[in-house]
Order: sequence, then structure tokens, then C-alpha cells
Amino acid sequence: MPDIPNAVQRGAYDLQAQNSDPLCAYIYDLPGLRHHVAGIVQTLPTQCEMFYATKANPALPVLQALAPLVHGFEVASGGELDWVRRHFPDVPVIFGGPGKLESELDNALTQQVELIHVESLLELRRLCDLAAQREKRQDVLLRINLALEETPSTRLTMGGVPTPFGMEERCIAEALAILSEQGWVRIRGFHFHMMSHQLDGHRHLTLIERYLDTVRIWEQQFGLTVDQINVGGGIGINYLEPTQQFDWAGFCAGLNELLKRYHDRPWRIRFECGRALTAACGYYVAEVLDIKSCGNDWFGICRGGTHHFRTPAAQAHNHPFCILPDVDESGAAPRIVERPVTLVGQLCTPKDVFAREVHIPSLMVGDLVVFQYAGAYAWNISHQEFLMHPHPRELFID
Ligand SMILES: Cc1ncc(COP(=O)(O)O)c(C=O)c1O
Repeated sequence: MPDIPNAVQRGAYDLQAQNSDPLCAYIYDLPGLRHHVAGIVQTLPTQCEMFYATKANPALPVLQALAPLVHGFEVASGGELDWVRRHFPDVPVIFGGPGKLESELDNALTQQVELIHVESLLELRRLCDLAAQREKRQDVLLRINLALEETPSTRLTMGGVPTPFGMEERCIAEALAILSEQGWVRIRGFHFHMMSHQLDGHRHLTLIERYLDTVRIWEQQFGLTVDQINVGGGIGINYLEPTQQFDWAGFCAGLNELLKRYHDRPWRIRFECGRALTAACGYYVAEVLDIKSCGNDWFGICRGGTHHFRTPAAQAHNHPFCILPDVDESGAAPRIVERPVTLVGQLCTPKDVFAREVHIPSLMVGDLVVFQYAGAYAWNISHQEFLMHPHPRELFID
């Protein structure tokens, strides 16, 4: 049987049986999510915290499953802040992201945001002015884009090279001067998020070591004592070789050793991961509608498309999947065996591809293609209204 939890398989077949039309659906395995995230959090060294980057998947049942397990939520917009606060009035929240509106900063001042991650000197000035007008105290981290000797090796880079994210190191002195002129906004530390899709634990440790060494230098240079260092998210999912995922246990063991070198510092080390927490709990299920050949190529046309599940198009990769065979094989549906097939959706664009020329042992109309790792940056990053198709069914297994 394919490597899909039994409950997800049952859920997919049940939905298929309930639907008069062929199925497309998102299925989320909440017990699996809890188990996965509890393991991640428990393995962290004691001075570390795990926040969840809600942008990866802000669905309420997902947040409800995560809230008791993580140390808090990271939000990146006023919309995410309102959503989280409406449903979780007491969960610790941190607020990052470039181009924050004044209204969003104002909102943050009244919504008990533990830390705002300040992205520029102008944003810092705006926040200081607002805090003074409102007479509200606010703690902040300065997000710094460190110039790295070695460019981060992943495909999605937010730092180490020129980007719109965070401030350059040379801005720190001016930021501290701005802060020293007022009494409402207080610096608690620094924030770094240099990349997503990190699959190499050793490289990630080296990067974190660089952050910590640099903060120690800044503390001396600027006569500061900070207590928070946010090392961002960015732990990747290996979509191409799903059996070889980021070695979280090995990484945490290395981090534990690394942190011993800084035992004299009162730092809390905070992660704000998205993909690594929720990608694995989500499945996009698409029923095979048609199978046809053109020249030497075979195509499996599935219900739905990349307007529901944009991840393969956004990452330009072949998304991993399993096939659940049609339980009712009585029809005269065409079957193909042992050949490469391109799995596509129903959109009128050649870009609507889930996986290109992948070898398939067997495929038949009515089979369910189950795309794994669809729990992060999937439904919520998709252009959902394209072609006015109905939205996929949604099932949260609990
Ligand atoms: C500032 C910041 N923090 C955290 C994240 C979460 O990243 P990931 O889902 O790769 O862990 C992102 C994603 O873009 C980000 O920009």
C-alpha cells in the first residue's frame, strides 16, 4: 500500500464515494501534525523556542492543533494578526515582514504583540512615533540582513545578498540612536531569516553560529545586552527525495553543543518555522479524469489543478505523490501501466503541471492521485478563483 496514513486513505475514498462529481480535496492529518510537531519541539535544546509562521498555513484547525505545542505564532500581516488574535487571545505573537502599514503597526500596539521585528529605519521611526502618541510600550527585534561570505545555497534567499528584507548591519548604530531618543520602544535583540528550503543541517548550524558570534560582537561594540535572538524559519522539505528529510535530531544535537559556547549569554533562541511544521500533514487529492497520449507522451488529467495546489508550479518541481487505485474497477476506463506520465490539472495552460514524465506502475481513470507535503504554502498561495472551478473539498481528520 502507498505511504499514506490509513485515515487519510479512508478519508479520500469516503469523500470520493460522497461526491457525485470526481473528487479534488485537501485532507489534513491533525493527529499526524501533533505527533510531528511535538517531536520537533521536544528535541529543541532548552534555551530554544519554536514559533509557527502562520503564513505557511493559517487554517484554523491547523492553528488549533499547533497552539498547545508551539511557543507562539509568527504573523506577517495585519490580517494574520487579526485572525490569530480573534481565535487565540492569549497565545504569544510576534509580528514580522517588510512594508508594514502604519495601521498595522498601530494595531500591533493594541493587540499584545510580544515583539515586532523591525525591517527598516523608517519603520522604526514610524513605530516610535506611534508608540509615543498612543503611550504604549513595545519591544522589538531588529531584523538584520547579514552580508555573508558564502551565499546561502537554497533556491529561496532572503538574506546574505541584497534583498528588500531587514536592514544592513551598518544601520544598527542609527537604529540604536533612534531608540535612545525615546522611551516607548525597547530593543530586545536581533532577527535573522536568510532563506527557506534549507535541507542541510550542518550548513544551517554554521549559519546560526555566524548569527550568534555576530550578536556577541554587536553586544560589545554597542554596549548592549540582548536576550532574544530569532534565527528565523527556513528548514526545508525534500520534495524530490521525500525519504531524505532535514535531520532535525542531528541538527538539534549540534545546536545543543553550539549553545554551550554561549553559556554566559542570557539568550533565548527562537525559531519561526512554517514549512517544516505543517507541510507533511497536508494531502491534495485529485481524481484522474482522463488519460491520453500525444506523440510519445502520456498525460493523466486530474480534477482540480495548480490554481488549487500551486506548490509544484511555484517551486518548479515534480511534486511527490502516491496513487490510490479506484475501488470500483468495473467500468471500461483506460489503464496504462509501467510508463512515464505527466500529471496535469484542468486548467487551459501548459503550466498546469503537478509532475512531469514520472514513471507510474499503473494509472486508471477514477484513481486518486494523492500529493503529499501539501500542508504548507499550498492552498493558501494558490490563485483559487481561476476558471471559476469550485473549491476543493476540505477534510481535517482528527
Ligand atoms: C521572516 C520569515 N520568517 C519565517 C518564515 C517561514 O519560513 P519557512 O516556512 O521556510 O520555515 C518566512 C517565510 O518566508 C519568513 O519570511
